[in-house]
Amino acid sequence: MIRDVPRDHPLLVQFREDPYPLYRYLLAAAPVQRNDLLEAWTVARYSDVVTVLTDPRFSADRTSYSPDGYEVAKSMLVSDPPDHTRLRTLVQKAFTPRIVEQLRPRIHAIVDDLLDHAFARGPEFDLIADLAYPLPVIVIAELLGVPAEDRATFHGWSATLAASLDPLVSSDLMDRAWVSRDALHAYLRGIIAERRREPRSDLISALVAVEERGDTLREPELVVMCTLLLIAGHETTVNLIGNGTLALLKHPDQLSRLREAPTLISSAVEELLRFDSPVQMTGRLVTEDVQLGGKAIGAGEFVLPLLGAANHDPSQFSEPHQLDITRNPNPHVAFGRGIHFCLGAPLARVEGQIAIGSLVRRCPNLRLNGTPKRRDQITLRGLESLPVAA
Ligand code: HEM
Repeated sequence: MIRDVPRDHPLLVQFREDPYPLYRYLLAAAPVQRNDLLEAWTVARYSDVVTVLTDPRFSADRTSYSPDGYEVAKSMLVSDPPDHTRLRTLVQKAFTPRIVEQLRPRIHAIVDDLLDHAFARGPEFDLIADLAYPLPVIVIAELLGVPAEDRATFHGWSATLAASLDPLVSSDLMDRAWVSRDALHAYLRGIIAERRREPRSDLISALVAVEERGDTLREPELVVMCTLLLIAGHETTVNLIGNGTLALLKHPDQLSRLREAPTLISSAVEELLRFDSPVQMTGRLVTEDVQLGGKAIGAGEFVLPLLGAANHDPSQFSEPHQLDITRNPNPHVAFGRGIHFCLGAPLARVEGQIAIGSLVRRCPNLRLNGTPKRRDQITLRGLESLPVAA
């Protein structure tokens, strides 16, 4: 929703600073609620969120607005079947757990290198700038075949596009988001043209080959696909590593438990994803009148499944506000559910496990070294900086 609401509107402040008290209220008293400010229905309970994500009456195709009339293809994230199935199938193979497992040694090497650089300057560093942000950016750039050295160039575009995913976006931010989108598209078209002339063994070259073979991928879809993967690679895993490390620092008992039993890292990462989710909400458009949580929602209305709230629903998770790195089972919805379940989940998990695992192993006295600064965003919840000392 594009609307100029003051940044300090109490609801926005609450969502941004600490949404959990609000979620607690919604879960208990208003699980499906029409919100006039957001012009949407918020959905808080786990079972209702799962319904919204898996019932085809809730469409992911919610992008009707483009102010400049510029014809942009729809990414898989905002497509319904059959287009969604076609687009997702084209890249699914590159992100399976088996393929991603093969990246482990390379991801380890990048993490070690980043930590070596940070420690070379002394024991104090910024976990976001020195590890959490560059790691996923380097990994996705290498996978796609985009020069990692260009990351300073797309940093700003990516941050603006990520901010535009919020439920309320000012017209000024939206203007900047269109400019960033166009710049990123132009940049990627340049890379695509290079790979067309001289293919390499990267994902962009593979997608170019698919596009050239025939009718399964149009060129505008190729550009949008690369944009989605690049942005997803830039703006999400950083928040798993940042929010996750902060949660461990605030729960020293859990941090020492992980230190004593490093094999707990995979269940720890699942719990960190649940506890302070990098993606707090998504959106769906209602295509026919539905009943949800006892409320009638009409066709054409917009719903916001609050993943962060569902992950704290006491009817699904016992003591949801406790961090328990041994929680099992842990069926969180941090990666969504159903046909749009995060394509990058295996990659994000491995990156999170290696980054947080290495940090715990290499920094036996890891501690907060100042006040963490939160990013000015709601949908993607994360930190701008996290000062720590090794
Ligand atoms: C911790 C990190 C991540 C989190 C929490 C996360 C979360 C999510 C969520 C919640 C969705 C579903 C959205 C919806 O249903 O509307 C999603 C979809 C998606 N994610 Fe991720 N993501 C992460 C990392 C990544 C990475 C690293 C990539 C890319 C390589 C990626 C690529 C995608 C794509 C392409 C989709 C769309 C899938 C589809 O529509 O079928 N994600 N992600």
